[in-house]
Amino acid sequence: MDTLNLSAGILVAVTVIYWLNRRARSRGLPIPGPKPHPFVGHTFQIPKIKTWKFFEKLAQEHGPIVRVTLAGDDIVVLSDPADAEELLGRRSRIYSSRRPLVYAGKYMSNNMRLTLLPYGDNLKRQRAAFHSMLQPRVIGGYEDMQYTASLRLLCDLVRKPEEFYLHFPRFPAGLIFTMSFGSRLADDGRDLAAVQKILMDFVIASNPGAHLVDSFPILDKLPDFLSPWRHEARAAHQEIIDLYGRLSRDVKARMVTEPELECFTARLWENQAKMNLSDEELYFIAGSAFAAGTDTSSITLLWFVMAMGLYPETMKKAQEEIDAVFGSDTLPNFSRMQELRYTMALIKETIRWSPIAPLSFPHYLDADDEYKGHILKKGTTVISSLWNMHHDEEEYPNSYSFIPERFLQKGPTEGDAADKLGEGIFGFGFGRRQCPGQHLAAKSTWIAVVRTLWAFNIVPKTDASGNPMKLDVDDCTNGLTSRPKPFPVDFVPRSAAHLETIRAEEARI
Ligand code: HEM
Repeated sequence: MDTLNLSAGILVAVTVIYWLNRRARSRGLPIPGPKPHPFVGHTFQIPKIKTWKFFEKLAQEHGPIVRVTLAGDDIVVLSDPADAEELLGRRSRIYSSRRPLVYAGKYMSNNMRLTLLPYGDNLKRQRAAFHSMLQPRVIGGYEDMQYTASLRLLCDLVRKPEEFYLHFPRFPAGLIFTMSFGSRLADDGRDLAAVQKILMDFVIASNPGAHLVDSFPILDKLPDFLSPWRHEARAAHQEIIDLYGRLSRDVKARMVTEPELECFTARLWENQAKMNLSDEELYFIAGSAFAAGTDTSSITLLWFVMAMGLYPETMKKAQEEIDAVFGSDTLPNFSRMQELRYTMALIKETIRWSPIAPLSFPHYLDADDEYKGHILKKGTTVISSLWNMHHDEEEYPNSYSFIPERFLQKGPTEGDAADKLGEGIFGFGFGRRQCPGQHLAAKSTWIAVVRTLWAFNIVPKTDASGNPMKLDVDDCTNGLTSRPKPFPVDFVPRSAAHLETIRAEEARI
């Protein structure tokens, strides 16, 4: 009897231990993070201003994987690139969605905006269409457009240097507009202003907390007369379709009269049936390149300008390198890209020092997962903090300083230098949602930076007493992307010979 009791006791004990273990495993180790409020989680702790600095502090206090909650939704912030590469990269099958947004996704974009699409067939089709335009093999075909757009940038800087804050955004906008629609962006600024408005409306609408229906999707069940927001979102959608539709149909009409017309939208029309795209999808894809490429590229260039004003010794080194390859009578071109190693390091350092999207674009988890003993639940928003990754003191000592030398490796750079821009930094994101425009961005940024440094010294403006004015890296905008607010620098032509070369080239376009 005793033996029987003992055996039964052991069996019960083993079962309980097994069950407790299983339960602990199924719950996983808690993901570290600050103490949440019992009802609203961290809703009132997460600041809207410089959110990335808040997450920087959390990583210092709690480690490289941190969890916070917003209105019941889990957000996991990754600060170690190895974790992001494992989750968003190797496990990208389940980490490549975007959080469903009723207002900005379903109604404003009619579920067609690439950046918001959940992982699945639609996303694959749209990315394939993008890839056909932006893959390294075809990027070479855009060099002439890049030369023209960057020459215009120089001319604008010569004529109105005080408006540099507008000229740098106009450079990628003009370039991508020509690539997308095969014509020049109108000088009256009408189309540029329209697309910037669409982008701004979208950024505001997709900000967490912007619309109640995104926190409580059940509100979408209410009829139209009780949901004025729905009418507003549909009107915004119509505005997008009107603009992108007009530009795309214009290309279609010109394809009849200009059979050689070569642009992204013309290619989309040619392959519409093969790619199985509706007209509206086609409009969205055509316009998305313009929207996604303009802001991102221009912000990188504005941070470059600020860095040059703050770190003149790095500007001088790059100029010496550029001068040794191109004299004052030759406008720099791509032919000797690989020789400008310091300048390439300077561009990399710009993206590292001030990533345009400090928290990248959040990914969304499609299925439960387990990682390092933690359970990550389906529906978790996963943020890779590019800011924290780029300010890891072990990887980038003195990380708040602008030091291009850190990227200079021994030996010459092999391969296409444009392909190397993303190496050693994480500014283009991770996994299957990684930026599809990075090869184009690399070459466009390169030509704009090299030509600007070739032509101008960028110097802080001086005040009434002749002292250089302060450039403040912390005075920047907030949101998904962050750009420096207008700052006081001058563009001083480096010599009369440089100006003469610019004028001569301008006469040819
Ligand atoms: C220096 C310039 C640029 C930088 C730093 C940049 C950076 C990024 C980043 C960080 C992401 C998010 C990746 C992720 O979700 O993990 C992204 C996505 C994206 N980028 Fe770029 N980008 C740049 C230029 C461009 C250009 C020129 C284009 C197009 C012509 C472009 C098109 C896109 C698109 C469509 C997405 C969304 C991809 C998706 O959701 O699947 N980008 N970019």
